[in-house]
Amino acid sequence: MDSTLLLLLLTGCSVKFALGQQGPVFILEPPSTLVFSNTTGSQLGCSAHGSPTPHVTWITSPDQRSVTAVPGLRQLLGNGTLYFPPFLAQDFRAEVHNARYRCRATSSVGTALSREVTLRAVLTVPGYDVRVNRQPVMEGCNAVLSCTAREDVKEHLTVTSWFRDDAILLPGNTDTGGRFVVTSQGDLHIRAAKPEDGRATYSCLTLHALTSERRKSEPATLTVTEPTGSSPPRLMQRSEIAISAESGSDVHLTCSAQGSPAPQFTWYRDVNGWFN
Ligand SMILES: *[C@@H]1O[C@H](CO)[C@@H](O)[C@H](O)[C@H]1NC(C)=O
Ligand SMILES: *[C@@H]1O[C@H](CO)[C@@H](O)[C@H](O)[C@H]1NC(C)=O
Repeated sequence: MDSTLLLLLLTGCSVKFALGQQGPVFILEPPSTLVFSNTTGSQLGCSAHGSPTPHVTWITSPDQRSVTAVPGLRQLLGNGTLYFPPFLAQDFRAEVHNARYRCRATSSVGTALSREVTLRAVLTVPGYDVRVNRQPVMEGCNAVLSCTAREDVKEHLTVTSWFRDDAILLPGNTDTGGRFVVTSQGDLHIRAAKPEDGRATYSCLTLHALTSERRKSEPATLTVTEPTGSSPPRLMQRSEIAISAESGSDVHLTCSAQGSPAPQFTWYRDVNGWFN
């Protein structure tokens, strides 16, 4: 008799739990990193569902202190979003702008903790300069033109296109027969340079990831020299030690050398110490 009652109570309880209650589950979790400009500000979104409806708050990481509003610098919006308004350079505060956060969703049924977000605010001034970097190329060899800017700006730039006179050259161009390739890293490669390549002008167009500001470089010319006598191959580019790419995207591995006669290239792939 006693055990039947207990069984009923247990079943009744678990049915009620399954029908009416659910612990917090994230619908929107913040990203693992957020880099933003002081001129734009940014926000971290977070929301969770469950029954009863969970309450969303933020904590610092790893010390787990409750995040509070800091006037003009950090605001908690009613919908769970943590907002960082644009700010002046002198208002930068490391504990607000260069900090790690986690979102916490709590209800009477439980608590869920989001992944950790590393937040980094960058002080940016409007406007930046880009220029074309290149070296003289021997006729018949490959030329490499890169787009460069001040080191602290460069890390946020992507090259969106190149211009050769008025012709636009886009990255990921699949025209393999063409002599002009914009690589996944944003460099312009010209295969087997011709004298006419020395009569064109080249400029690059960039996009700043934090401010969305676009800039076009001044047009630059390329010096194409006549091959003289014979010279051994000379590498024209520092080698990349690591290249990262999103899965499913194209990657260009490049090798650039000059010499006379024009060098031939062979690629090797090393898999667990075996070359093939
Ligand atoms: C919360 O509100 C802000 C400001 O109105 C909005 O930008 C953001 O998208 C909202 N977040 C969610 C999760 O709805
Ligand atoms: C961001 O910081 C720079 C200085 O590094 C300053 O010139 C600029 O005015 C700031 N932006 C805003 C919106 O205050």
